[in-house]
Formats: sequence, structure tokens, C-alpha cells
Amino acid sequence: MNTQVEHPGKMMGFSKLSRAEKLSWMECHHQGIDEDIFKKFWIQDTELQKTMEEFSENTLTNFPLPFGIAPNFLINDKNYTVPMVIEESSVVAAAAKAASFWMTRGGFKAEVLGTEKVGHLHFYFYGEKNDLIDYFNKYKVELSESVSFHLQNMKKRGGGFKGLRLCEENKELPNYYKLECLYDTVDAMGANVINTSLEELSQTFKNTLEKYLTKDLGKRFEGQLDIILAILSNYTPQCIVRAWVSHDVSKMEDIDGLSAQDFISRFVKATQIAQVDVSRAVTNNKGIMNGVDAVVLATGNDFRAIEASVHSFAANSGKYRGLSRAYIEGNIFTFEITLPLALGTVGGLTHLHPLASTSLKILGNPNAKRLMEIIASVGLAQNFSAIRSLVTTGIQRGHMKLHLLNILKQLEATDLEIDNAKIYFRDKVISYKAVREFLKRVTIH
Ligand code: MEV
Repeated sequence: MNTQVEHPGKMMGFSKLSRAEKLSWMECHHQGIDEDIFKKFWIQDTELQKTMEEFSENTLTNFPLPFGIAPNFLINDKNYTVPMVIEESSVVAAAAKAASFWMTRGGFKAEVLGTEKVGHLHFYFYGEKNDLIDYFNKYKVELSESVSFHLQNMKKRGGGFKGLRLCEENKELPNYYKLECLYDTVDAMGANVINTSLEELSQTFKNTLEKYLTKDLGKRFEGQLDIILAILSNYTPQCIVRAWVSHDVSKMEDIDGLSAQDFISRFVKATQIAQVDVSRAVTNNKGIMNGVDAVVLATGNDFRAIEASVHSFAANSGKYRGLSRAYIEGNIFTFEITLPLALGTVGGLTHLHPLASTSLKILGNPNAKRLMEIIASVGLAQNFSAIRSLVTTGIQRGHMKLHLLNILKQLEATDLEIDNAKIYFRDKVISYKAVREFLKRVTIH
């Protein structure tokens, strides 16, 4: 009998309400919330609106973000126009600026170094460790077949199941082991198929281990095995891509008031700081993710998975470090990045969200490997622009110029005031205070 008393404020069955009922409930129960604000963001096309709502649960409306493009990305000698979805001003402009800079200097080069994805059965085993190892060696083929069973389509597309291993007991946690499956999911991110295959593996593992312990060894099975989790890992250090730009420093012109030598020297030092100082590393990597996430979002990929993976990769050495490196060899300046990017160009939202499939079309319908190369290049471009500003003019000059409009809008400036402010602040330092004072002055006159 359930004796638990429900909280008096608990809303029961919200998911079962119609959309109109959900909105009225919101209006009734949340002071100051007017259902019109949600309606304002509905898409006129009802089919499309339905599609959007069905991506998630308890949907009230859509939350639009700006969709922009950064043209002129020359990557492996191919010219890309890159779609970016991001709310932060300056990011798209910075990506476009770096793309344009490198387009006339050979462009970006990129290379996929691996595409392996992994999933695990995490379990506790209380029996003899050697029995488990012997069992695994005997049943490895059968276990592998149960994983492969769900991967026929993936196999047809050139990927599939790539291996299985037993990871031995973890010293920090007695009796904890894992079975690790390796996959090549080709152009799909593959989360669902990986998880399905792992759940199948879980059953086979349980059944065959029981058979082995009881029938082959005449031992007890009950209470020996506790399978806790069957799940893919977002830690994907074997699904990685490297992107780089390089140029002869002696052939570079002055950059933002600095000689090429001075600029590159300051640039290299900035990347070295991000290698040794965690405070800078995190901000450096955040800047990289400005570009990465914007394209990941635009193409309907899972930015949380990418974020989790990239930041764990940044801490691979045991210390969180910058993801990019810059160095000079001879006269050649090289700036490079290596990122784990488990992406898909089929499945998931990639073709269900009309703007995600449009993004992929804009990119020339790349396969997952090409998309990895594009996104790593955008991350590198973003980092190049940020460091370029930081080691020369400072970040605020360019950023605040682009942020001016946001400040003016916040202060409810009229169109005429906006035009005047743009002219006035052309050669002045922009701050919230300065803009507010400017508006006060022009409003009085
Ligand atoms: C701001 O979104 C990103 C930067 O802080 C990145 C960086 O400092 O490298 C400008």
C-alpha cells in the first residue's frame, strides 16, 4: 500500500493536458505569466509547429535563436558556408573574420583520426575474478554476436560492431567491472542503436554467465552478478578530428598594428598560457565551443554530448588544458586543435528539424567525417579570432561594437536614436553607462 502523502502543490497529469489547457494552467498558476507570450512564438504552419512540439515533452512554445552563416570557410580546399545557431553577439562575426583571413592563406586543413564510439555494461561481480575472465574468454563470440544482431543496418553502411573487452576490476571500487563494446556508427551519432545493443548484451551476459557458473563450474550464480547500467559513453577520445592552419611568418603582413613576428609571438604565448593555467584554459575552450556548439546546434546534433566529451578530453592529461596549440617550426606558424566530436548527419534531429536539414544542405550534405572536419575548423577559427583580439586590441572593442545594438534595444532606443548612436560610437568606447548617457543627452535635445 502506498502511504506516501502527495505534496499539496503537486501538479498531476500536466503532460495529459491539451496545449490550450497547459497554457491556461500556466497563466493561472504563475503570477505575471500571460499565455500570449507563448502563442507569439508558435509557427503559423500547424504541421511544422506540431513537429517542433513533438521533439520534446510538455511543450508550450518554441524558443527561437538566431540562425546565421559564416561564409568563406576554406577547408581541405573546399569552400563552405557555415550555418551557426547562437545567441551571443560577435561569435558569427569572429568566425567569419577568421575564415576570411585564412581563406587567402591556404585555408583550414582537417583530418579525422578516428571514429570509434563506445558503450558499456557496468556491473558488480562478487564471485572469483578468474572465473569471470575464463567465462569471458569462452563466451566472447556469443556475447559479440548478441551485440552485432542489432547493428545489421550499420554494417550495411560500412560500420557496425568493432570489438568487445572485459575491463578488469576497478581498484577504487571493489567488485566493479565493465564490458566495453566498440562501434563504428558511420554517419549516425548512434546513441539509440548503441543503447539497444547494450541492453541485448545485458540479457545474453546474464544468461550465459549463469550457465557457465552453474553448469560448467557447478558454482552458485544467485547474488553473484548485479548489472547496474547499460549505456553508451559520451567520453569519445577515439572519435577525434584534428584541424590546423599554418603559414610562413616571413610572408605575413602586420596584423592589427603589430608586426607579424610580434603578433605570432604573442599569439603562441597566449596558447601556452591556456596549456598551463586552468583559468585561462576554461575560457579559451569556452571560446572554441562558441563556434563548435553553434554548428552542432544548427545541424541538429547533441551539443550536451559534445560539451561533455570535449571538456573531459581537455582534462585527458590529468589537468584541464587548452584544446588548441600554436607553435613555430622554422618560419612556419602552425595553429591546431584536436577535438573529440561524435556527430551524426543521419538520424536523430538531423533531418526531422527542417532547419537542421537545411544546414546540412548548405554544407553540401557532408557525411559525419566531413562534418567533424568542418566543426573542428570552426572551433579553431573562433579561437583564432578571440586570441587575435586579445593579444592586440583587446576583446571589448570589437565585441562592444556588435553589442551596441543589444544595449540600445535594452534601453528602448528609437530607430533614429539607434542610427545616431551607431555614428556617435564609431570612434568611442562603448559601455552600458556611456550609451545610457548618450541617450539621455539626445532625448533632452
Ligand atoms: C567569449 O564568449 C569567448 C572569449 O572569452 C574566448 C577567449 O577568451 O578566448 C572571448
